[in-house]
Amino acid sequence: MRKTMIAANWKMHLATHEASLLVHRLHQHIKTHRDIEIVLAPTMLTLQPLSLEIDRRRFRLAAQNAYFKDEGGFTGEVSFTMLRGLVHYAIIGHSERRIYFNESLEMIRDKVAAAIRNEIAPILCVGETKHERDARETRQVLHDQVTTALSGLTADEVSQVVIAYEPVWAISTFGGEIARPLDVAEALKFIRYEVSELYGQNVADEIRILYGGSVNEHTAGGYLALDDCDGALVGSASLNYHSFAAITDVAFRMSHQA
Ligand code: PGA
Repeated sequence: MRKTMIAANWKMHLATHEASLLVHRLHQHIKTHRDIEIVLAPTMLTLQPLSLEIDRRRFRLAAQNAYFKDEGGFTGEVSFTMLRGLVHYAIIGHSERRIYFNESLEMIRDKVAAAIRNEIAPILCVGETKHERDARETRQVLHDQVTTALSGLTADEVSQVVIAYEPVWAISTFGGEIARPLDVAEALKFIRYEVSELYGQNVADEIRILYGGSVNEHTAGGYLALDDCDGALVGSASLNYHSFAAITDVAFRMSHQA
């Protein structure tokens, strides 16, 4: 059974006191959900204070990024080694990092390996741009991103990875078109197929695949109902208490119906 994950990517929003306030409100709303995992990804600066405030039975923490070297002269960077024990997950390869910070396929592969080496489960983001979609390159792009990022890992390590399919054109930062669940279903299925080709059917059945891209309380249900969808990575809507709480409610209701 793959546990549903609802992850909040706060990006470069919410200073520590604002994040604290939001978590406090969410605490009152979100009860211990055994069937779903709620993950919060605040800014790097806020991880430590938040780790002291959250009830770890209700929330898990994720870093939004980290550097692939364990230590050294890399001014301004934070390593996965430093995050070990503080976070369960780390978002890796988000399109904002690929596009604004020129993260290459190889750098993302090295970050995935560094996370695993430090016992942090990667939330690996993949997805095509609008241009690539229009050129019918979606499968090729997903193939390249998935294959490179996972290369060098054992089957056991791969089963700890969570993959988030986030078509760039659907992310609010880059236009925020609403993706049709039908199209999402096809991409998720293809990603699971790719994992099965690389690591076998057992790993493919185990690995969790999320959808991300302008998910809100109205659209979440349509994506979560898809066979291959094991949760959502939520940006903008996760900054709003009402929206995010409503998305977790939808996920909870649906996991009970399953
Ligand atoms: P969005 O962001 O929900 O604001 O589109 C999702 C993401 O970037 O992970």
